[in-house]
Amino acid sequence: MQPSSASNLSTPVLEHSVPPSRPSASDGEARVLAVVDGPGAADYTDTADYVAHTATLRGIVRQRLVTRALVEHLPPAPARLLDIGGGNGVQALEFARRGYHVTVCEPDPHMLAAARRGLANAPESVRRRVELVEGDGRDAVHLVGTGWDATFCHGVIMFVPEPAPLLNVLVELTRPGGIVSVVGKNGPALALRAGLQGRWQDTTALLGDPWPAVTARAATGAGAAGAAGPDRQPAMRVPPGDDPANVAGILTAAGTRSLAWYGIRTFTDHLGDVPPGPDVDAVVDAEWVAGAQDPYRGIARLVHHIHRRIG
Ligand SMILES: C[S@@+](CC[C@H](N)C(=O)[O-])C[C@H]1O[C@@H](n2cnc3c(N)ncnc32)[C@H](O)[C@@H]1O
Repeated sequence: MQPSSASNLSTPVLEHSVPPSRPSASDGEARVLAVVDGPGAADYTDTADYVAHTATLRGIVRQRLVTRALVEHLPPAPARLLDIGGGNGVQALEFARRGYHVTVCEPDPHMLAAARRGLANAPESVRRRVELVEGDGRDAVHLVGTGWDATFCHGVIMFVPEPAPLLNVLVELTRPGGIVSVVGKNGPALALRAGLQGRWQDTTALLGDPWPAVTARAATGAGAAGAAGPDRQPAMRVPPGDDPANVAGILTAAGTRSLAWYGIRTFTDHLGDVPPGPDVDAVVDAEWVAGAQDPYRGIARLVHHIHRRIG
């Protein structure tokens, strides 16, 4: 999986949830919004669910890996950071503690209230560096203006039907030379969680039929079974916001270049909502090293794109 290359995923489709049967080629033009699959797959549109998730091992791994990657690429503090869909403010608080000025633009008032509660325990000097603005990310240019040193959008593109309008706005919000940071699902690898959890029917459904054209030809005696020809098809078509190559392509077309991409949760994604153990630092270290290199980052649950605006 190479986020910077063009996607050629074009065949069967999963819609909203794991389908009861393997998707067929005739599903190919259906609209795909999201793939939801099994334990550890709450959609996190509910504030209480999401706040609880951020305290699990999986939540902690995600947030700490995101921070660690950003630290490698952000300009030094104090700089002005904008967190679109910043949720309950985990990254805002983290970077405010590090001396940055962070504005969160978040449409859900319950999430904003949770962010306010999180900030309440922080020192006054940290609190003063965080601003919370209620609104949709796609309206952010009007809400918070442009020229940001870095713009974050983590775990949000899976909630919009089309990623391009939001991703284009992120680039517009960011000053030339600034950083755009996006976390999305790794659509081509979504079967891994189900497989590692032993949910075999779900796994097969998520994998789809890897070579429907070849199988059809073999069934009619028209072709050699197993032949890998030009009509060999990839496993499934993923929603546009879950396709890392598509996300990277939109950001690039909008006037950025990729600086790096990381995988998030290679080893821990299938663990459900277990709390962190005493070895949490070692887990995060292992995930960090894996997430920065092939082949591990290519099978991680999430992909973290870091781009620089060039124009
Ligand atoms: C899974 S949470 C992620 C929160 C935070 N970015 C993080 O990484 O912890 C998804 C967030 O996206 C927000 N969201 C959904 N649609 C949005 C939109 N169109 N613009 C901005 N935020 C949006 C939700 O309200 C929610 O707070």
